[in-house]
Amino acid sequence: MKITAQEINNVMAKSILGLSGFHSASIDVNQISVKSPSQTGGSSRYNALMQFSTSQWHTRYLQQAGWTRKLRTHLLERVDLSPGERILEVGSGTGAVLATMPASYRAVGLDMDISSLEFSRSHLISSYPLVNANALAMPFKPQSFRLTYCHFLLLWVSNPRKAVAEMARVTQRGGAVIAFAEPDYLSRVDAPAPLDILAQHQNASLRSQGAHIEIGQNLASIFNSTNLVNVHTGTLESPSNSNALEDDPHLEWQVLQNDLVLLHNFSELKDIIGSAREVWHSSDRRTFIPCSYAIGFVP
Ligand SMILES: C[S@@+](CC[C@H](N)C(=O)[O-])C[C@H]1O[C@@H](n2cnc3c(N)ncnc32)[C@H](O)[C@@H]1O
Repeated sequence: MKITAQEINNVMAKSILGLSGFHSASIDVNQISVKSPSQTGGSSRYNALMQFSTSQWHTRYLQQAGWTRKLRTHLLERVDLSPGERILEVGSGTGAVLATMPASYRAVGLDMDISSLEFSRSHLISSYPLVNANALAMPFKPQSFRLTYCHFLLLWVSNPRKAVAEMARVTQRGGAVIAFAEPDYLSRVDAPAPLDILAQHQNASLRSQGAHIEIGQNLASIFNSTNLVNVHTGTLESPSNSNALEDDPHLEWQVLQNDLVLLHNFSELKDIIGSAREVWHSSDRRTFIPCSYAIGFVP
């Protein structure tokens, strides 16, 4: 029987809350020491479901971070951060986005996957505290951060509304909560035909892994129903083609394969995968998955 990411999330939530020193809302963020992820316990079972290595995921996350680079700059200007202020990335993964935050902010990364945190530690400057915990019960006191943000996280969290409420809880009055990018796989456009068929199978795989594949559609409603004001939401522009990594068809193909291979009927898809591979590098290939963003402020 296949274990879904949802079930893994549940297991992880229990094990993390059971760790000594990680009680919900108990950490004074000013007293966070620079913690090596290996000291925080946890496990890498989330990634065990995936075929990619942590390093391959990092390459993928760098690609996604490229898609939102301009938007992040634009939204961060709205927050009006001052040097020395605390910011938190929830679901910081391998640190692809965290590493782009100006060093003048006191940035903290939180993730439930220990191997991603370990990877982050290998390339992030040592002053970034990394915390191994669940987004649904973060071990921070209320109003600890000036900005709390996530990037391709809510897709994977078992209860996205609760995660955003938790992000608002740990954010100071007047501070911001941002979801930089969450996809809407239900509105995806894939062409020509074999790719459209595979896209539907990829959606099925993502669902079976526990993903909320329509999260992008629900982001506005989630932010508007959280205790946030001046909520602004929108859709990301289509990724630019200016950077080879951001438009790497080989990486896209690997991500698709990675999801398809998890399907119980993968062996039945061989013919359609063969047809898709033939058109993958053609100039009429289209793959577009709309992504939404949202920003709101704590009253
Ligand atoms: C798609 S990755 C994005 C990583 C990073 N934000 C980026 O964009 O590069 C999603 C991350 O969320 C983490 N994650 C998923 N559910 C979580 C939860 N309930 N609590 C904390 N982290 C979670 C995963 O371990 C993974 O590292």
